[in-house]
Amino acid sequence: MKTFYITTAIDYVNGSPHLGHAYEKVLTDVIARFRRQMGDSVYFLTGVDEHGQKVQQSAKKRGIAPQAFCDEVSQEFRAMCAKLNISNDDFIRTTEPRHKSVVSRLLQQLFDQGEIYKAEYQGFYSTRQEQFLQEKDRQPDGSWPEIFGEVTQITESNYFFKLAKYQDWLIQHLKENENFIFPRYRQKQVLEFLSEPLNDLCISRPRERLEWGIELPFDSGYVTYVWFDALVNYYSAVEDKPGIWPADFHVIGKDILVPPHAVYWPIMLKACGLPTPKSILAHGWWSINGTKMSKSTGNFVEPMAFADQYGVDALRFFMIREMSVGQDSDFSLNQFLSRYNSELANNLGNLVNRTLNMTNRFAGGVVPAPDATSLILEPERELHALWEKTREEFITLCEGFQFHIALERAFAFVTATNRYVEQRAPWKLGKSTEAADQALLRTSLATMAEALRLAASLLPAVMPTTTEKIYGVLGYTATGSWRERLVWDHRLTGAKVAETAILFPRPQAPEAGAAKA
Ligand code: MSP
Repeated sequence: MKTFYITTAIDYVNGSPHLGHAYEKVLTDVIARFRRQMGDSVYFLTGVDEHGQKVQQSAKKRGIAPQAFCDEVSQEFRAMCAKLNISNDDFIRTTEPRHKSVVSRLLQQLFDQGEIYKAEYQGFYSTRQEQFLQEKDRQPDGSWPEIFGEVTQITESNYFFKLAKYQDWLIQHLKENENFIFPRYRQKQVLEFLSEPLNDLCISRPRERLEWGIELPFDSGYVTYVWFDALVNYYSAVEDKPGIWPADFHVIGKDILVPPHAVYWPIMLKACGLPTPKSILAHGWWSINGTKMSKSTGNFVEPMAFADQYGVDALRFFMIREMSVGQDSDFSLNQFLSRYNSELANNLGNLVNRTLNMTNRFAGGVVPAPDATSLILEPERELHALWEKTREEFITLCEGFQFHIALERAFAFVTATNRYVEQRAPWKLGKSTEAADQALLRTSLATMAEALRLAASLLPAVMPTTTEKIYGVLGYTATGSWRERLVWDHRLTGAKVAETAILFPRPQAPEAGAAKA
């Protein structure tokens, strides 16, 4: 069986990690964990993009060598992954020899095949975007959009990769692979881009202008264009590992779909005679309080500080619950706290507390066996039926990357369980000495515990620590496959539960500077 290979974009190390970087890691982690739960063998790659003008400039500003600068900042990205409980199998840096050697080799191969040629180029160059611009990039009034920063006209000799030659192949490939890009509507965007003739891609930068890059193997006067270098990471990380390439999913933001991932990358691979990735998942962007994230205005969420303050799982939960994959979303502290309180603390947290509290009060802390006759009563049957439906929907929704709705369904089951508890009112049954009430009490305690175990079993891809904590306080040691764990079978009978648990403490008021949202 082929390994399910999933990657994130590799982040530029010219600044510290922010919420957008964190989201992409978490989203990819949720998919990776979900696939593992479903029984796939998964290889999950993330990493950092260390070459190029932006990094060179940031290092210069700090007055240190680019490599020292990269060593420092890439550490922050690695630490963010560890902090957010990202289950990546590998972390690649584009300054590593294992990456550089593959980039050099592929460049030499393409050069030898005649896919790369040298030509004089005159054009408008954006330093900020590190790219030559085209007439169509101009605004109606002839000026260049602000995103390009300073634009200068330059003439220089450079190396070009024959991208245009593959245009028809790519169009055909997209038509034959309707699921190449998720969400589907973005595939149309790519085809639209391809409705205009492609230019060949300038893949070199003269050393005088940019030093910080991988030297062209056939001309030491040049370094490799940062995208041609960066994209190769997906392949260089696994080239020596059998059964992994091609990637099943490249998870990236919508800004880097067209042209780098959807056009350059498949063509580069095709030209090298390598298999192309199966799919690309393009997610949306986070704004903060309705505006673009920006460190200078303080409209910025620093993911590590935020996770320290409110909890790693709470942050993971919020990002996945709030954003519909592919769409944009807004982050605000108010919205975060509202979900935290209503869904985590008052719904799930409350069910945990009640279950522990009542099992201790009325059953000596040991989950009782349900009474067989009361299991066929209406409230129990209804909750059980809702579980069966929730489980199947949850899996289907996750398979289609509809994680926000999957979580909504999981939490609707928690709500229904809390409602069930209110209906049965074990605190009243516990006061009665009637045999029938005692039987119903045992059933309601067993049902609560089982429903909580099952709800927690839906959550490990999104909230791995929370699932483990709930299992722990229920005295449950998970065995068997994930799907087996989702079977309603009262396996907790006889388990000793903890006395109390605080899963989602009341959040502290935001501290100045920690997370201005
Ligand atoms: N280095 C390139 C990617 C090379 S991949 C071979 C790059 N780096 S980046 O640091 O600018 O962005 C990394 C990822 O973070 C991208 O997928 C980008 O879309 C994502 N995000 C950056 N800001 C974001 C938000 N505000 N919201 C969500 N994701 C965002 O591009």
